[in-house]
Amino acid sequence: MSETAFSPTLLIRDNVVSLKPYTPIVPFDILSQQLNRDPSDIIKLDANENPYGPSPRVAEVLAEAPYMHIYPDPESRNLRTALAEYTGIGAEYLLVGSGADELIDLIMRLFINPGDKIVNCPPTFGMYAFDGDINAAETTSIRRRPDFSLDVEAIEHLFTTDAQAENNPKLIFVTSPNNPDGSVLSDGDLQRLLSLPTVVVLDEAYIEFSSNSRIQWVEQHPNLIVLRTFSKWAGLAGLRVGYGAFPLDLIAQLWKIKQPYNVNLAGQLAAEVSLDDREHLLGNVARLVEQREQFYTVLDSIGWLEPYPSQTNFILCRVKGRDASDLKKQLAEHGILVRYYNSSGLTDHIRISMGTPTQMARLAKVLHDL
Ligand SMILES: Cc1ncc(COP(=O)(O)O)c(C=O)c1O
Repeated sequence: MSETAFSPTLLIRDNVVSLKPYTPIVPFDILSQQLNRDPSDIIKLDANENPYGPSPRVAEVLAEAPYMHIYPDPESRNLRTALAEYTGIGAEYLLVGSGADELIDLIMRLFINPGDKIVNCPPTFGMYAFDGDINAAETTSIRRRPDFSLDVEAIEHLFTTDAQAENNPKLIFVTSPNNPDGSVLSDGDLQRLLSLPTVVVLDEAYIEFSSNSRIQWVEQHPNLIVLRTFSKWAGLAGLRVGYGAFPLDLIAQLWKIKQPYNVNLAGQLAAEVSLDDREHLLGNVARLVEQREQFYTVLDSIGWLEPYPSQTNFILCRVKGRDASDLKKQLAEHGILVRYYNSSGLTDHIRISMGTPTQMARLAKVLHDL
């Protein structure tokens, strides 16, 4: 048979072929070349990373780790025991992932047959819709209200209890505090979602910068999943460690489909030592929260910016009477990177992650001068 007669690309899943390519982030060293600036001269406030970095004990523990040549614990036992103490929910409810991102995909793989429905509540974190597309889910978007609160009535209207119930959405993704605005979901709204015949995935990636975690609710609610991460509060974004609390009936099934060695040894050790050194890390969180409150006042004093109150390590701002994408470019010329949105409803918005006091003072000066 002639080799040219057969095209293997025709065998690829249809929903993958029709996906738009993902735009990955630019690695830090390449960014430094592009901006023609030393990495130390770049103020990176575009991805909600932690400017203080990890606990100093992470480098020590990794330098001395004796078993790099042995596969890591597939059940992350030591880390889950430490997490049970940190979160107040039993280790049997906890599963660790290569970032919360991996767990979002794993949840989809657990529930979604092609064409099954999920609910996304934009503006929000992009991974729910992204993984929904990869897993051939049909995503229904229920936009948040202008103040970014959830439109719970509209979500409730998607559900029916009649013979059509099998077409109900299987999963609802909600983020609290929400990215990109930093608002939180009330207990009452969460209760309403939990009374629907669906699984509620509550993403608490930024909970350490806020309060009122609902992770312990998982013990009482068979349809609640709560996701958390070490990327933000513990400064471990580069090592990829997240975790989730799952009802026991669901976690039993998840264990079956998880890649055995999904969390590498360095990630497990770094997360364990972070929990041990939490006093230091939560001190950094307190600094970032204080910075957020101070910087809100700075932004509010600039006539052409309208910041939104936030319970996270970032602040979303509406840019008034100027082009937000130009502002992003002007800041980049000063070596300051912020996130610009061009999605519907957010075109004139930027999101600024909190940096160190020195970094934020430099940004404040540039903003005042522009
Ligand atoms: C709401 C939300 N969830 C999850 C993540 C990703 O977490 P991880 O780094 O653990 O994959 C982010 C990262 O920005 C986020 O904003």
